[in-house]
Amino acid sequence: MCGIVGYIGGKAAAPILVEGLKKLEYRGYDSAGVAVMESGKIEVRKAKGKLAVLEGRLSCCNFGAQIGIGHTRWATHGKPSDENSHPHQDCQGDFAVVHNGIIENFQSLKEDLIAKGRTFKSETDTEVLAHLVETFYEGDLEAAVHKVVAAIEGSYAMAFLCRHEPEKIVAVRKDSPLVVGLGDGEYFLASDIPAILAHTRRTFILNDGEMAVLTAEGAVIKTAESGEVIAKEVFEVKWDAVAAEKGGYDHFMIKEIYEQPKALRDTIKGRFNEDGVNLDEIGIDKELLTKANKVVIVACGTAYHAGLVGKYVIENLARIPVEVDIASEFRYRNPLINKKTLVIVVSQSGETADTLAALREAQSKGAKVLAVTNVVGSTIAREADSVLYTWAGPEIAVASTKAYTTQLAAMITVALALAQCQCALPCSEIKAIAESLKAIPGQVETVLAQADKVKEISEQIKGWDDVFFIGRSIDYAVALEGSLKLKEISYIHAEAYAAGELKHGTLALITDNIPVIALATQEQVLDKTVSNIQEVKARDAYVIAVAQEGNKEIGKFAEHVLTIPRTHAALTPILAVVPLQMLAYYTAVARECDVDKPRNLAKSVTVE
Ligand code: F6R
Repeated sequence: MCGIVGYIGGKAAAPILVEGLKKLEYRGYDSAGVAVMESGKIEVRKAKGKLAVLEGRLSCCNFGAQIGIGHTRWATHGKPSDENSHPHQDCQGDFAVVHNGIIENFQSLKEDLIAKGRTFKSETDTEVLAHLVETFYEGDLEAAVHKVVAAIEGSYAMAFLCRHEPEKIVAVRKDSPLVVGLGDGEYFLASDIPAILAHTRRTFILNDGEMAVLTAEGAVIKTAESGEVIAKEVFEVKWDAVAAEKGGYDHFMIKEIYEQPKALRDTIKGRFNEDGVNLDEIGIDKELLTKANKVVIVACGTAYHAGLVGKYVIENLARIPVEVDIASEFRYRNPLINKKTLVIVVSQSGETADTLAALREAQSKGAKVLAVTNVVGSTIAREADSVLYTWAGPEIAVASTKAYTTQLAAMITVALALAQCQCALPCSEIKAIAESLKAIPGQVETVLAQADKVKEISEQIKGWDDVFFIGRSIDYAVALEGSLKLKEISYIHAEAYAAGELKHGTLALITDNIPVIALATQEQVLDKTVSNIQEVKARDAYVIAVAQEGNKEIGKFAEHVLTIPRTHAALTPILAVVPLQMLAYYTAVARECDVDKPRNLAKSVTVE
């Protein structure tokens, strides 16, 4: 986790670093700090808490330094505190380092360094980097960083400042993202592109094992191990910086909920033609689509819930068996996969550590991996054998919304591509589902128009301690996502159950006025779901139903019914989740929660 930035150029560094960190707060916001080279000395300011606290500390400093590094932290080793905040320094204060990742062998390195007389001020793994670089330094920062890289194990994007070489930043990456921004006489460093977009669109995206050496004269990319210069291609960022701003909404989350029609249109566009799925456009190896005899979908959190929907739609439309696994489980369970298995990893950020490890595990077993991701140039996108991008645009709110619905659109696209290549469905049916998918963005707009009703219901939910979500078939997968959304941002305890499972235990918890959110969009199991709703109603539950338009019966058993337009059974999740996202959002706002930055969470989980 964490985000790092760096700047060297002709302007005051501190404000540029802080602005960059603001764009990276989604990566963690337990503390923040900067180090700048002020009159031949490294000055560090850091503070526990959100960036505003650091800004307060910097406001009286008036630093003119034109070089510096910065960090926003999501705590892994050591609690959030001033001491554990980055940048970290060696005992003399000659070096400063910021780091995103985990140094796995830090304990033994720390013991060695202590034995050599170094004293530690923090509980972090990162502090060893500052002492190590000082130990290895013999007049050449780059050479010292090569030695640091050789000594450490784990994941890192890290940047160093050295008092003896005051016009240089040396940064290096392995398993944590890092980009260099190429300005006019100024150079930037960041964990993610939004942090540098205000200054430049020209970037170098670093690969594992690469080192960036930034001076006012330029940015040179070298190998981290030996320092050989690499001829790096410039990556021109095409997307709009304004897309990453709040655009008049109170929170990024609600802005992103309302962006779903556009995100879905962009994700669907060009992917279907007169033959059905436009296989050239989606970029998946055709041989694999034709030969795959098993699909394994691996992801975390919301992306995993998209994978569960993927199972239903691929099995139903393409008739290929699908397993769905949580990435942190998959990577350690010696999965049964081979070269005929299509492994799909789903990740908004393309940087989630467990999902990346799952991708590598799958490839090591001979499987081909398709990545469904939202971030061009992300590590997962680069390492996968093929990539199907979701075009949701930057998602800033920690709680995923538009990334999820575009992941669902991607799952349908893959299911139809498999069905087409394996002749599992007639062409006419593939085209009919594709037409229904094209209508979905407009139908999402209809669902969004119910915001006032959802807001009213949230006023009633806001005081509850527990909420249950139920659904059958594909609705169960949506129930899981609805429950995750509510708990992560409103802190209300929420659980999701397959509706038929209730009577096997959980029904004991359903008593007077316990809220049950029932998804009832699937015609083939509608009677069964209605019976389950009656079961909870008989125990005096407070029922809120999500059903397709025209369902008259459901209103008899529910206090409120939120409706979605009619569509193909495989597509209902994209519509049904929208009222649940809004419900979570308005409930969290009513409870005065920090919607975009829920406690203990971060947007991109780049550590295990
Ligand atoms: C919840 C949420 C998380 C992510 C999960 C995976 O709203 O956003 O559960 O879905 O951390 O992240 P990605 O998709 O970036 O791999």
